[in-house]
Amino acid sequence: MQFFIDTADLQEIREAASWGVVAGVTTNPSLYAKIGGKLADFEDHIKRICETVDGPVSAEVTADDRAEMIAQGEHLAGLADNVAVKVPTTIEGLACCHALAEEGIAVNMTLCFTVPQAIMAARAGASFISPFIGRFDDIGEDGLAQLSEVVDAIANYWPNEDEEGPQIIAASVRSVNHVTQAALMGADIATVPFKVLQQCVKHPLTDQGLEKFKRDWATVR
Ligand code: E4P
Repeated sequence: MQFFIDTADLQEIREAASWGVVAGVTTNPSLYAKIGGKLADFEDHIKRICETVDGPVSAEVTADDRAEMIAQGEHLAGLADNVAVKVPTTIEGLACCHALAEEGIAVNMTLCFTVPQAIMAARAGASFISPFIGRFDDIGEDGLAQLSEVVDAIANYWPNEDEEGPQIIAASVRSVNHVTQAALMGADIATVPFKVLQQCVKHPLTDQGLEKFKRDWATVR
């Protein structure tokens, strides 16, 4: 499983990239608003992120109808070679995904919650499909179980078919356990907030072990 970082914060992206584990970035309108991003700076900001990491950087369309979504998607894709256009899993979004995929543009279908949504996104030509774990949990459902069903359903058809299949991004990740379970069930990618990425590295036994090594080393003469 690859790690993407789920943030629009350049400092967080730079720091996590320095650890050598970040294969891509996902942003969304809420994440850009969270860092106090301005509309006028949005495109430059996406370009800067794209220069910071080699892998795919998801930038989301905000229009509602397919013609505007397609135009926005084409524009976003023109900002850098590694932009993946993020599109919501709706009927308009499917049509947009299909049109952009026909042009060879990578699309990340977001806000995906069910197996039928994921299969339709794949058929429409998505390069990435993002089932949301945490938001499913938020409504009293089992987000990990839903992710697992999507992973299994997509694996039923790809890579056994000739065409290249979509990559599943475990999204709306809120905990280390979400990351663990996503890896165990075979998600291709987990997009993880910076705080959870930090938590993924930390373990009390690692810290205790390090303390003991330091104490013991201090006795060596
Ligand atoms: C990723 O592509 C999504 O935008 C993100 O994971 C959503 O996470 P949230 O549900 O914690 O906002």
